[in-house]
Order: sequence, then structure tokens, then C-alpha cells
Amino acid sequence: MNRYSLEETRRYESQAAAAIPETLRPAYHLTAPSGWLNDPNGFSRYRNRYHLFFQYYPYAAHWDQIHWGHAVSDDLLRWEYLPAALAPDRDYDRTGCFSGSAIELEDGRHLLIYTSARAEEQTDHTVREIQTQSIAVGDGINYEKVSENPVIDSAMLPEGGSRFDFRDPFITERPGGGFYCYLAGRDASGSGQVLLYESDNGFQWKYVRVLVRNENRYGVMWECPNFFPLDGKHVLIVSAMDMLPKGFDYQGGNQTLCLTGSLDEKTMAFTEEDCMTVDHGIDFYAPQTVQAPDGRRIMIGWMQNVDGFSIREPDAPWAGQMSVPRELRLRGGRLCQWPVRELDAYHVHKREYKDVVVAGPVEKSDAGWEEGSREGAVCALDGINGRVLDMTLRIRPAGETIYRAFEMRFAQNDEFYTGLRFVPETAVLEIDRTFSGTRRAILNRAQCRIDTDVSDLHLRILLDRYSVEVFVEDGRRVMTATMYTEESAGRITFHAEGTVKIDVTKYDLKLPSFPEAGA
Ligand code: FRU
Repeated sequence: MNRYSLEETRRYESQAAAAIPETLRPAYHLTAPSGWLNDPNGFSRYRNRYHLFFQYYPYAAHWDQIHWGHAVSDDLLRWEYLPAALAPDRDYDRTGCFSGSAIELEDGRHLLIYTSARAEEQTDHTVREIQTQSIAVGDGINYEKVSENPVIDSAMLPEGGSRFDFRDPFITERPGGGFYCYLAGRDASGSGQVLLYESDNGFQWKYVRVLVRNENRYGVMWECPNFFPLDGKHVLIVSAMDMLPKGFDYQGGNQTLCLTGSLDEKTMAFTEEDCMTVDHGIDFYAPQTVQAPDGRRIMIGWMQNVDGFSIREPDAPWAGQMSVPRELRLRGGRLCQWPVRELDAYHVHKREYKDVVVAGPVEKSDAGWEEGSREGAVCALDGINGRVLDMTLRIRPAGETIYRAFEMRFAQNDEFYTGLRFVPETAVLEIDRTFSGTRRAILNRAQCRIDTDVSDLHLRILLDRYSVEVFVEDGRRVMTATMYTEESAGRITFHAEGTVKIDVTKYDLKLPSFPEAGA
């Protein structure tokens, strides 16, 4: 048996997927049919459906010779698996079919452009991976690698460009016809850069220019570029490796960034204006975007920290999830994210509470915070519980004085919980999964500082069986984390230090399970 032939993979995955009970998967976040998933790839509209491919190793829950898995959806939430699209079955991609993107050609075929990686012995006898770009074209189910592959290789690098780190092509239409392709690479100094290529037909490519140089400002190597217009600006989303923490930012090591600026469409010169963190939580990386037919720019990311693989048990049936798809806007120069509106169609069992007072065991006096004797430090609300839900939460002081801290604990039983804590005095919002049942000494806390009114905080919290995504103030900040607490831990409680008034609206999310999704 050739383990890596596409046929064998397709046979294997359909059996392996059927053996995983739906209840052991997230309810509305995409996982691999079986085994390992990392970056989203080829996120595109094709023949009136959303196609999403992904970095995929079906044979085990760890990264290995990477394939492209494939799923389709009408609403970005109910995904139907299609057979794996690419296997690393050629000499030029024998180490793996790494990340890339997709677009529809004028003749109606679907073009996939991906990084073909091959490990090769170098003149100094070390074995290193050469990265080139290759193409496969198909009909939305079956794809054929073209005979011209690789279509972009080391010979087309600018002076000093690395052959070993040259990957993740992001293809877009070129105004007036043809295509642009943005690629991540390293320059002679070892720092990341984004390179621009162009093609009249999608098959023959030529180098145009460097779009952006990192110059070691944000991490070292950059991966997975996405470049698109948004609300009057141009936005470059890149995932930066090996970042140094800066305040609360970049503590995750590898982190996704959003560079905003303006583009001169004649020269394709990009003038940078600002740079911000895309997600302040623990688990979000390597996102891709697509434009919906109604013009919305939608982003989906790999909901996993690169260094946090070991949070999942090695014998798990799957590893790696996609984030919820998010609508992107640029408001007042800030990238704002919001769960796609399609999610609202799955709201059931509305529960609503207004002006609930949560009074904690401390009070503020002229001397500062003092222990008080109040009851009601922990508040549970009837019907506010569960693990698959969409909740909005408004948090304000109950009286004149600001409270000291507020915390919501969820995915909770007598032993475990994950917490979301806000301290108005410092404006710091923190997610903490230390007690979520993980036995791994990996990053378990993340913080961000909000820049809106601390006395009236608005949060939208999406829970799924193995994740939490927190959207702060209309999506100006987002914090995403996975947690693998047993699903029966469904209790939710609210805690205060000081006196807090909250409004809570909660919906359960009810989606048909994946096998029904294609029906
Ligand atoms: C990002 C990444 C990409 C690469 C792929 C390999 O997570 O390292 O740069 O193409 O994963 O699986």
C-alpha cells in the first residue's frame, strides 16, 4: 500500500471519519474527517458554494506528510466533507502539500496553488526542505496537478531570497485581467517578507516586487499572507513566527498580525500605516479570507497555538479546529471581527436577564477595597449554562463606584472551569484555562487591554464543545482559546469583587450534525 496515494487517503478517511461520533466533535467548528488539521487553505467561492481546504494528515492526530483535505458549505457553518483534494504524491511535493489558495479560472475550472515541499540533501550534506509553488486544477471535487509544476521556483526569487522559506501563495484577481499572487519568504538577513508575483493565465508567473519587508520588526519569518481592500484601506494579514512578547501582545510566540495601509495600484507599492494583533487569545493562527457574494470579507483561522499541540492527547481521533468564520470591517483604523451573521439562524432557547446584580465580598471605601460581608458573590442564572451557545453580556457598576473585578466561569463542574475576568481599573480582560483539565504546562492565560468605556463593557461569547471565542466591543478585540474539558462540565457562574450589574442574553446553538449537512 502506498500510504500517500490520493485514492488510499480517500478510502481511509471516509472510514475513519465515520468511526468518530459527532458528539466527540465541535458542534459548529470544522475539524478534519480524521487525524490532523492545521491551516485553512483555498478558502474560495466556487460554483455557488464556499470551498474550504485544509492542511491535513488523516492517519494520526499529529502533523506529518501534509495533504489537502476538503469541505464545502452554503452558509460557512454546516460543512460537508468532500474527498481529500491533494496528496504529497509527486517528487516535487513529496514532503508535503503545504498551504495555498484557490480561485476560479475564466474557463470555469477551479485552480489551487500550493507550496510543494521536498526535502533534499544539500551540498553540505544537511537535508533541508526546498519550497516551490505548484498548481492543481479541477472541478470542485477532483484536482489534477499540472505538468508545468512547480510553476514558481527558487529561480524566480529576488536576490537573497530563501529557497527554504518560500511559501503559502495567496492568489487574487488582477484588475483588468490575470492574477496576482502574494508569497511569504525570508530575505538575506533571515527576516520575513511578502513577495508579489503576477500571471496573465494563472500558469506562467513572473516576479514583480517585494510588497512588505518585516526587517525583524514583528517576529522573524512570516507565513500565510492575505492581502485585500477593506473599507477604503488595504489590509495585509500575516502570521509571524517567533515573536517576542510586548506588553500583553505576542505572548503566544507565533501570532497573526494585521498591517493596514494604502496601495498604489499602478506600482503595487504598499505604504504601511499601522499594525495590530488580530486575536489576543491563545489559539488563532494562519487565517485565510474570502469575499462573500454580498461583498463581506470573511476570515477563518486555525484555532490552535503552534506551540500548544500537546494540549490534545496523542490518541485523540482528531486534532485541530477552525475558528468560527468572522466578518471583517475596518472601523476607526481598527480591524473589527464579528461572527458571520449566518450563525444567528441556529439560535434556539433564548434566555434573557436584565439588571442582575452580582455583589461580591469586597466594597470600596475611602480607605480602598475592604472585605465586606455581602452575600451573593457567586451568581448562577436559571437556564444560563451549557457548552454550545452564543451569549451577549453587558457589564456595568451597579452603583456609583466602579467594581474591582468581574469574572464569568464556564465549562465548569466541581473540579474544572475556564474563566473570563475583567478588571476595570486596568482595563484588562483575561482568559484563563489553567483549571480546564489540561495537564500540559503550555500557555494557559492571555490578556488584552480594552480601549473603550470600562464602565459599560459589551462582550459576545461563543462557546463550542472545545473552544471559546470572545468578541469585545463590536469586535474591536477578539480572544480565542481552546479547552478540552469534559463536556458534562456545563455550569456557568458570575462572580464579582464589588457590585456589578449585568445583562445576559443566551441562545443555545443547534446545528444539524455533519452527516446531515450534505443532505
Ligand atoms: C503555518 C504553516 C505554513 C505552511 C503549513 C505547513 O501553520 O507553517 O506556513 O505552509 O503550516 O503545514
